Formats: sequence, structure tokens, C-alpha cells
Amino acid sequence: SISPIVDQFSRTISYLRLSLTDRCNLRCMYCMPSEDQDVEKHVKTGDFLQHSDLLTYEELLRVVRLTVSLGMNKLRLTGGEPLVRKGVVQFIEELSRIEGLDQIRLTTNGVLLKEYAEDLYRSGVRYINVSLDTLDPDKFKKITGRDRFRQVWAGLQKALDLGFKIKINVVAMKGVNDDEFVDFGRLALEYPFHVRFIEFMPVGGKNSWQKDRFIRGEDIRTMISTLGSLQPFAIQHGAGPARMYDLVTPDGQTGAVGFISPISHHFCDKCNRLRLTSEGKLRACLLKDEETDLKKILRGNGSDQDIMTAVRQTIIDKPQGHSLQNETEAEEKARSGGTMSRIGG
Ligand code: GTP
Ligand code: 5AD
Ligand code: SF4
Repeated sequence: SISPIVDQFSRTISYLRLSLTDRCNLRCMYCMPSEDQDVEKHVKTGDFLQHSDLLTYEELLRVVRLTVSLGMNKLRLTGGEPLVRKGVVQFIEELSRIEGLDQIRLTTNGVLLKEYAEDLYRSGVRYINVSLDTLDPDKFKKITGRDRFRQVWAGLQKALDLGFKIKINVVAMKGVNDDEFVDFGRLALEYPFHVRFIEFMPVGGKNSWQKDRFIRGEDIRTMISTLGSLQPFAIQHGAGPARMYDLVTPDGQTGAVGFISPISHHFCDKCNRLRLTSEGKLRACLLKDEETDLKKILRGNGSDQDIMTAVRQTIIDKPQGHSLQNETEAEEKARSGGTMSRIGG
């Protein structure tokens, strides 16, 4: 096998996150460009991309093949919502034929999971991360703008039945869903889901992130520990950003919970990621705006060598990390708005 590229801070970059589209079938308060729901209007104003702005599947496959030849071996598909892009299952089938890719994983909001679960399983996907910030159907509608909780829940059940390994992503927002963290802990006891609480990052719509909505991972952990003891996993799977724990109740129930703390306890020194945004820009850091326009190279008749050089250079130039160590710094970042739905989280 090929040894992956190491950046100037000695981090091995082996994990590519592909945002397939900036479109989504939900309108989460913290992610989308504005509260306005009219997609066509957003296309005109540039808030949403046009189809021709997206890399085609052929272009994406070429990029993935070349990055794999540079030592990338993990791939995650994100969005927007990856399952709303037409032909996604066939695309995954093509991806799964690329030698050197360990696993193709998916981060989804779950709305189309019931419909797609069998196809996804058949195309080789085994791991899915599902974003779910509430277990209350009414609140779900408030957070996402759509009444889809039951659909997501049905999708989760179906995916469990089929044997997927499922992580639930809960973006922690004070005053929005902090009254449900313990319920999410119970969910981890009842089901084989890995439930992960994520510190709210200032990267989405301009008005959603507020200092007083932020809760530190540690404070969430304290709330969860009212259910039982928390023992760190002996092996932290995949070296991802989550710190995982076995939750064990006094009466012997067990579950897996985790905490992703990009603000209070950032993991930049171990970051192994490179991102490709839905508009075809390589982005070495979620929270830093430097990007390399790969689409321009692809559509300007760039050679494989040109593409690989761009990937290599983007990795070498990967920022050391962000400096949003506290709520005040995060607040500054929040004011600059952001394009989470194009970067894919
Ligand atoms: P695996 O560990 O491979 O399961 O995936 P993941 O947890 O990295 O991916 P997922 O798409 O489920 O993202 C979970 C949360 O972690 C989201 O809020 C992401 O925005 C965040 N996240 C993922 N990677 C990074 C990263 O490199 N930096 C920061 N700051 N946040 C990240
Ligand atoms: N802070 C933390 N996580 C976020 N996500 C989206 N926006 C934010 C944010 N501002 C999460 C989604 C999804 C993942 C890709 O990123 O809930 O699970
Ligand atoms: Fe990696 Fe940037 Fe996230 Fe830090 S903030 S973990 S460097 S993507």
C-alpha cells in the first residue's frame, strides 16, 4: 500500500470528506444560509449552487482515484444531504470498485434513509452517521423546518435491522436541546447506536451561533454521568474527533456515548482530514477559509499530475488548526457567517 502524505505538522492525511451537494431536504437553523426556504431564490442570490457548479460524478471519481493513489484510504460522503443528489447509489457502487479505499461512509440527516438503506447496504456501505438533535417530533420541526422526525426514526430502525453500524450526531445547543441530553443517553442504552454530542461550532448560518447557546462537552458529560459511570473506550475507534465512553448504569445496562469538542478541546494536532467542498474546492481545515480551486484545474484540462500536485500542496499547506479556544473567539468567527452546507461539516 501507499504511504499517505504527511503535512508540515507531521499529521498523516488519509481521510477525505466529499460534500456531494449543498442542497438539503431539511433547513436546520444552524446550517443553512438563511431562514428563507425558497430554493430558486437562493440559487439566484448565490446562496445555493447550480448543478453545473457541482463536480460531476466522473470528476469526483477521478479526484477520488487520484487522492487514493496519494495514500487516502478513508472516504466520507457528506452534504448538504448526500442522499438528495440523483444517482448517489450508483456513484457509491463506482467508488466501491476503487482499490485502496477501506470503507465508504456516509453522514446523513436520515430523511431518505428508509428508502435508501437497502441500496446502500448492497453497495457496500456499513457505517452511517445520522444527524439527530431531538427526539421530540415538534421540536424536530422547529429545528429543521420540516416535520420529518418519524421518517428519520423509521430510517434508523430499518438501518439497524439491516445491520448498519450507526452513530447519532447531536449538536448540543443550550436552550434548544439540552433538556434532552439525558434522553439521548438513554437512547444509547436502549439501542446499539453510538450517541455523540457535538459542541456547537460557529460555522453555519450567520445568526444561529450565539455564545449563550454553547455548551462544553465536559458539561454534557456531567449530565450524562447521572445515568451511570462513564469509562473511556480502551481503543478509540478510527482516531476520529469523538472521545467515546461506555456508559454503564447501576443496574447493568450499557451503551456507547461520545463527545466531540472542537472548541473546548480541539483535536487539530491529530487531524487527518482533507475536504472537497460541493463546489469542487479542496479545503484542508473546516474552520479556516483557505481553499484550492480544484474544479478550475479539472475543467481547465488539468492533467492527473496537476491534480495530484494541487492535492499535495493543499495538504502541505494545511493550517495548524483553529484558535477558537473559547466562546469569545468563537463569537467572532460566528459573525463572519459560513457555508457549512457546502463544506459538509
Ligand atoms: P467518523 O469519526 O469517521 O465516524 O466521522 P466524524 O465524526 O468525523 O464525521 P461526522 O460527519 O459524523 O461529523 C461529526 C461532527 O464532527 C460534525 O459536527 C463535524 O462538523 C465535526 N467534525 C468532523 N471532522 C472535523 C474536523 O476535522 N474538525 C472539526 N472542527 N470538526 C470536525
Ligand atoms: N456545529 C457542530 N456540528 C454541526 N453540524 C452542522 N453544523 C454544525 C455546527 N455549527 C453537524 C451536523 C452533521 C455533521 C456533518 O455536522 O449535525 O451531523
Ligand atoms: Fe482539522 Fe481544522 Fe478541524 Fe482542527 S479545525 S480538527 S485542523 S479541520
